[in-house]
Amino acid sequence: MTKEALLLTIAVLGGTGKEGKGLAYRWAKAGYRVLIGSRSSEKAVKAASEIMELLEGSSSVVGTTNPEAAEQADIIVLTVPYSAHRETLESVKSALKGKILVDVTAPLVPPKLSKVQMPPAGSAAQEAKEILGEEVQVVTAFQNVSHEYLMGEEDVECDVLVTGTSKKARVEVLMLVEATGLTGWDAGPIENSVVVEGLASVLININRLYGSKHAGIRITGVPNQAIEST
Ligand SMILES: NC(=O)c1ccc[n+]([C@@H]2O[C@H](COP(=O)([O-])OP(=O)(O)OC[C@H]3O[C@@H](n4cnc5c(N)ncnc54)[C@H](OP(=O)(O)O)[C@@H]3O)[C@@H](O)[C@H]2O)c1
Repeated sequence: MTKEALLLTIAVLGGTGKEGKGLAYRWAKAGYRVLIGSRSSEKAVKAASEIMELLEGSSSVVGTTNPEAAEQADIIVLTVPYSAHRETLESVKSALKGKILVDVTAPLVPPKLSKVQMPPAGSAAQEAKEILGEEVQVVTAFQNVSHEYLMGEEDVECDVLVTGTSKKARVEVLMLVEATGLTGWDAGPIENSVVVEGLASVLININRLYGSKHAGIRITGVPNQAIEST
Protein backbone atom coordinates (compact mmCIF):
# COMPACT_ATOMS: atom_id res chain seq x y z
CA MET A 1 0.00 0.00 0.00
CA THR A 2 1.41 3.43 -0.93
CA LYS A 3 1.61 6.41 1.43
CA GLU A 4 -0.74 8.22 -0.94
CA ALA A 5 -3.37 5.49 -0.56
CA LEU A 6 -3.18 5.63 3.22
CA LEU A 7 -3.88 9.35 3.19
CA LEU A 8 -6.76 9.64 0.74
CA THR A 9 -10.45 8.87 0.97
CA ILE A 10 -12.23 8.49 -2.36
CA ALA A 11 -16.02 8.88 -2.67
CA VAL A 12 -17.65 7.19 -5.64
CA LEU A 13 -21.06 8.81 -6.20
CA GLY A 14 -23.34 6.32 -7.94
CA GLY A 15 -20.86 3.67 -6.78
CA THR A 16 -23.74 1.17 -6.60
CA GLY A 17 -23.75 1.04 -10.42
CA LYS A 18 -21.68 -0.83 -12.96
CA GLU A 19 -18.76 1.55 -13.58
CA GLY A 20 -18.62 3.02 -10.08
CA LYS A 21 -18.56 -0.31 -8.32
CA GLY A 22 -15.75 -1.53 -10.56
CA LEU A 23 -13.63 1.57 -9.87
CA ALA A 24 -14.39 1.38 -6.13
CA TYR A 25 -13.26 -2.26 -6.14
CA ARG A 26 -9.96 -1.40 -7.83
CA TRP A 27 -9.19 1.50 -5.46
CA ALA A 28 -10.15 -0.47 -2.36
CA LYS A 29 -7.88 -3.25 -3.56
CA ALA A 30 -5.04 -0.72 -3.94
CA GLY A 31 -5.48 0.33 -0.29
CA TYR A 32 -7.54 3.48 -0.56
CA ARG A 33 -10.38 4.12 1.88
CA VAL A 34 -13.47 4.15 -0.36
CA LEU A 35 -16.93 5.55 0.29
CA ILE A 36 -19.76 4.32 -1.91
CA GLY A 37 -22.36 7.05 -2.45
CA SER A 38 -25.97 6.51 -3.45
CA ARG A 39 -29.39 8.12 -3.27
CA SER A 40 -30.18 5.30 -0.82
CA SER A 41 -27.84 4.55 2.08
CA GLU A 42 -29.20 0.94 2.25
CA LYS A 43 -28.24 0.39 -1.40
CA ALA A 44 -24.79 1.88 -0.75
CA VAL A 45 -24.19 -0.30 2.32
CA LYS A 46 -25.11 -3.39 0.27
CA ALA A 47 -22.72 -2.44 -2.57
CA ALA A 48 -19.92 -1.71 -0.07
CA SER A 49 -20.35 -5.09 1.64
CA GLU A 50 -20.29 -6.87 -1.75
CA ILE A 51 -16.92 -5.26 -2.51
CA MET A 52 -15.62 -6.04 1.00
CA GLU A 53 -16.64 -9.66 0.51
CA LEU A 54 -14.72 -9.86 -2.78
CA LEU A 55 -11.65 -8.43 -1.06
CA GLU A 56 -12.18 -10.72 1.91
CA GLY A 57 -12.54 -7.80 4.31
CA SER A 58 -8.98 -6.62 3.75
CA SER A 59 -10.04 -3.10 2.74
CA SER A 60 -12.12 -0.20 3.96
CA VAL A 61 -15.28 0.31 1.91
CA VAL A 62 -18.25 2.07 3.48
CA GLY A 63 -21.66 2.86 1.98
CA THR A 64 -23.56 6.07 2.63
CA THR A 65 -25.56 8.80 0.86
CA ASN A 66 -24.02 10.84 -1.97
CA PRO A 67 -23.84 14.11 0.06
CA GLU A 68 -22.33 12.35 3.10
CA ALA A 69 -19.75 10.56 0.93
CA ALA A 70 -18.80 13.83 -0.81
CA GLU A 71 -18.49 15.58 2.55
CA GLN A 72 -16.14 12.95 4.02
CA ALA A 73 -13.89 12.37 0.98
CA ASP A 74 -10.80 14.11 -0.37
CA ILE A 75 -11.52 13.21 -4.01
CA ILE A 76 -15.02 12.68 -5.38
CA VAL A 77 -15.69 10.49 -8.41
CA LEU A 78 -18.99 10.85 -10.28
CA THR A 79 -20.37 7.72 -11.94
CA VAL A 80 -24.04 8.34 -12.67
CA PRO A 81 -25.85 8.34 -16.04
CA TYR A 82 -25.75 11.68 -17.87
CA SER A 83 -29.49 12.14 -17.19
CA ALA A 84 -28.64 12.33 -13.45
CA HIS A 85 -25.42 14.40 -13.86
CA ARG A 86 -26.72 17.90 -13.06
CA GLU A 87 -29.05 16.82 -10.27
CA THR A 88 -26.35 14.77 -8.53
CA LEU A 89 -23.77 17.56 -8.79
CA GLU A 90 -26.21 20.12 -7.40
CA SER A 91 -26.96 17.81 -4.46
CA VAL A 92 -23.27 17.67 -3.42
CA LYS A 93 -22.02 21.08 -4.61
CA SER A 94 -21.33 22.58 -1.19
CA ALA A 95 -19.29 19.53 -0.12
CA LEU A 96 -16.99 19.77 -3.17
CA LYS A 97 -15.44 23.18 -2.44
CA GLY A 98 -11.63 23.02 -2.52
CA LYS A 99 -11.66 19.39 -3.74
CA ILE A 100 -11.24 17.47 -7.00
CA LEU A 101 -14.24 16.06 -8.84
CA VAL A 102 -13.38 13.20 -11.20
CA ASP A 103 -16.16 13.14 -13.80
CA VAL A 104 -16.52 9.75 -15.52
CA THR A 105 -19.67 10.79 -17.38
CA ALA A 106 -20.09 10.33 -21.10
CA PRO A 107 -23.08 12.46 -22.16
CA LEU A 108 -24.96 9.60 -23.83
CA VAL A 109 -28.49 10.50 -24.90
CA PRO A 110 -30.84 7.54 -25.51
CA PRO A 111 -31.83 6.08 -27.83
CA LYS A 112 -28.84 7.01 -30.06
CA LEU A 113 -25.98 6.04 -27.71
CA SER A 114 -23.64 5.45 -30.64
CA LYS A 115 -24.00 9.04 -31.87
CA VAL A 116 -21.98 11.86 -30.28
CA GLN A 117 -24.42 14.36 -28.74
CA MET A 118 -22.56 16.97 -26.71
CA PRO A 119 -24.35 19.35 -24.33
CA PRO A 120 -24.37 23.14 -24.98
CA ALA A 121 -21.47 23.68 -22.49
CA GLY A 122 -19.23 21.65 -24.85
CA SER A 123 -19.00 18.47 -22.77
CA ALA A 124 -20.38 16.93 -19.58
CA ALA A 125 -17.20 17.97 -17.76
CA GLN A 126 -17.49 21.59 -18.86
CA GLU A 127 -21.11 21.49 -17.71
CA ALA A 128 -19.86 20.20 -14.33
CA LYS A 129 -17.41 23.11 -14.18
CA GLU A 130 -20.24 25.59 -14.89
CA ILE A 131 -22.37 24.02 -12.13
CA LEU A 132 -19.58 23.83 -9.54
CA GLY A 133 -17.70 27.07 -10.18
CA GLU A 134 -14.05 27.99 -9.73
CA GLU A 135 -13.62 26.47 -6.26
CA VAL A 136 -13.72 22.90 -7.56
CA GLN A 137 -11.11 21.30 -9.81
CA VAL A 138 -12.91 19.18 -12.42
CA VAL A 139 -10.93 16.32 -13.96
CA THR A 140 -12.22 13.69 -16.39
CA ALA A 141 -11.13 10.05 -16.63
CA PHE A 142 -12.28 6.47 -17.40
CA GLN A 143 -15.05 7.42 -19.87
CA ASN A 144 -13.67 4.87 -22.33
CA VAL A 145 -13.09 2.00 -19.89
CA SER A 146 -15.84 -0.62 -19.96
CA HIS A 147 -17.11 -1.75 -16.55
CA GLU A 148 -16.86 -5.32 -17.86
CA TYR A 149 -13.13 -5.19 -17.14
CA LEU A 150 -13.06 -3.53 -13.77
CA MET A 151 -14.29 -6.24 -11.40
CA GLY A 152 -11.88 -8.76 -12.94
CA GLU A 153 -8.22 -9.36 -12.31
CA GLU A 154 -6.98 -9.40 -15.89
CA ASP A 155 -5.09 -6.54 -17.53
CA VAL A 156 -7.38 -3.89 -18.92
CA GLU A 157 -6.77 -3.28 -22.60
CA CYS A 158 -7.71 0.37 -22.53
CA ASP A 159 -5.79 3.53 -21.68
CA VAL A 160 -7.26 6.42 -19.73
CA LEU A 161 -7.16 9.97 -21.08
CA VAL A 162 -7.18 12.50 -18.24
CA THR A 163 -8.29 16.08 -18.89
CA GLY A 164 -8.88 18.72 -16.26
CA THR A 165 -8.93 22.29 -15.05
CA SER A 166 -5.35 22.26 -13.71
CA LYS A 167 -2.14 20.33 -14.28
CA LYS A 168 -1.84 19.65 -10.52
CA ALA A 169 -5.31 18.08 -10.37
CA ARG A 170 -4.61 16.00 -13.49
CA VAL A 171 -1.40 14.69 -11.91
CA GLU A 172 -3.31 13.66 -8.75
CA VAL A 173 -5.90 11.82 -10.83
CA LEU A 174 -3.19 10.14 -12.92
CA MET A 175 -2.01 8.57 -9.64
CA LEU A 176 -5.52 7.24 -9.05
CA VAL A 177 -5.54 5.81 -12.59
CA GLU A 178 -2.23 4.07 -11.90
CA ALA A 179 -3.73 2.61 -8.71
CA THR A 180 -6.45 0.91 -10.78
CA GLY A 181 -3.73 -0.86 -12.80
CA LEU A 182 -4.47 1.10 -15.99
CA THR A 183 -2.26 3.43 -17.98
CA GLY A 184 -3.24 7.09 -17.80
CA TRP A 185 -2.24 9.97 -20.07
CA ASP A 186 -2.36 13.70 -19.40
CA ALA A 187 -4.70 14.69 -22.22
CA GLY A 188 -4.68 18.41 -21.41
CA PRO A 189 -7.25 21.02 -20.43
CA ILE A 190 -10.88 20.35 -19.63
CA GLU A 191 -11.90 21.61 -23.11
CA ASN A 192 -10.27 18.44 -24.52
CA SER A 193 -12.83 16.30 -22.69
CA VAL A 194 -15.17 16.81 -25.66
CA VAL A 195 -13.00 14.39 -27.64
CA VAL A 196 -12.63 11.86 -24.82
CA GLU A 197 -16.33 11.85 -23.94
CA GLY A 198 -17.21 11.63 -27.64
CA LEU A 199 -15.02 8.54 -28.01
CA ALA A 200 -17.48 6.69 -25.74
CA SER A 201 -20.11 6.80 -28.48
CA VAL A 202 -17.52 5.74 -31.07
CA LEU A 203 -16.62 2.69 -28.93
CA ILE A 204 -20.31 1.83 -28.42
CA ASN A 205 -20.73 1.97 -32.20
CA ILE A 206 -17.73 -0.34 -32.69
CA ASN A 207 -19.09 -2.79 -30.09
CA ARG A 208 -22.46 -2.80 -31.86
CA LEU A 209 -20.99 -3.33 -35.34
CA TYR A 210 -18.32 -5.88 -34.44
CA GLY A 211 -20.13 -7.83 -31.71
CA SER A 212 -17.62 -6.92 -28.98
CA LYS A 213 -18.41 -5.85 -25.40
CA HIS A 214 -15.43 -3.78 -24.41
CA ALA A 215 -13.70 -2.00 -27.26
CA GLY A 216 -11.07 0.37 -25.85
CA ILE A 217 -8.38 2.83 -26.86
CA ARG A 218 -4.60 2.76 -26.53
CA ILE A 219 -1.98 5.51 -27.05
CA THR A 220 1.04 4.37 -29.07
CA GLY A 221 4.27 5.89 -30.30
CA VAL A 222 5.40 7.60 -27.07
CA PRO A 223 8.86 6.48 -25.84
CA ASN A 224 9.12 5.37 -22.18
CA GLN A 225 11.75 8.05 -21.54
CA ALA A 226 9.26 10.78 -22.45
CA ILE A 227 6.64 9.28 -20.14
CA GLU A 228 9.07 9.08 -17.20
CA SER A 229 10.13 12.72 -17.60
CA THR A 230 6.59 14.17 -17.28
N1 LIG B 1 -20.92 1.20 -17.80
C1 LIG B 1 -19.76 1.40 -18.40
O1 LIG B 1 -19.11 0.46 -18.90
C2 LIG B 1 -19.20 2.80 -18.47
C3 LIG B 1 -17.93 2.98 -19.06
C4 LIG B 1 -17.37 4.25 -19.08
C5 LIG B 1 -18.07 5.34 -18.55
N2 LIG B 1 -19.31 5.13 -18.02
C6 LIG B 1 -20.04 6.30 -17.49
O2 LIG B 1 -20.21 6.10 -16.10
C7 LIG B 1 -21.48 6.61 -15.70
C8 LIG B 1 -22.24 5.50 -14.97
O3 LIG B 1 -22.49 4.44 -15.86
P1 LIG B 1 -23.09 3.06 -15.32
O4 LIG B 1 -23.19 2.18 -16.50
O5 LIG B 1 -22.32 2.64 -14.14
O6 LIG B 1 -24.55 3.54 -14.87
P2 LIG B 1 -25.64 2.78 -14.02
O7 LIG B 1 -25.12 1.50 -13.50
O8 LIG B 1 -26.89 2.74 -14.86
O9 LIG B 1 -25.93 3.83 -12.85
C9 LIG B 1 -24.97 4.15 -11.89
C10 LIG B 1 -25.65 4.69 -10.65
O10 LIG B 1 -26.20 5.97 -10.91
C11 LIG B 1 -27.30 6.19 -10.04
N3 LIG B 1 -28.46 6.66 -10.82
C12 LIG B 1 -29.08 6.02 -11.82
N4 LIG B 1 -30.12 6.75 -12.28
C13 LIG B 1 -30.14 7.87 -11.53
C14 LIG B 1 -30.97 9.01 -11.51
N5 LIG B 1 -31.98 9.17 -12.37
N6 LIG B 1 -30.71 9.99 -10.61
C15 LIG B 1 -29.69 9.86 -9.74
N7 LIG B 1 -28.85 8.76 -9.71
C16 LIG B 1 -29.08 7.81 -10.61
C17 LIG B 1 -27.66 4.85 -9.40
O11 LIG B 1 -27.21 4.89 -8.06
P3 LIG B 1 -28.24 4.93 -6.82
O12 LIG B 1 -29.55 4.35 -7.26
O13 LIG B 1 -27.54 4.05 -5.84
O14 LIG B 1 -28.32 6.34 -6.42
C18 LIG B 1 -26.85 3.86 -10.20
O15 LIG B 1 -26.44 2.73 -9.46
C19 LIG B 1 -22.19 7.10 -16.95
O16 LIG B 1 -22.08 8.50 -17.04
C20 LIG B 1 -21.43 6.43 -18.09
O17 LIG B 1 -21.39 7.21 -19.27
C21 LIG B 1 -19.88 3.89 -17.95
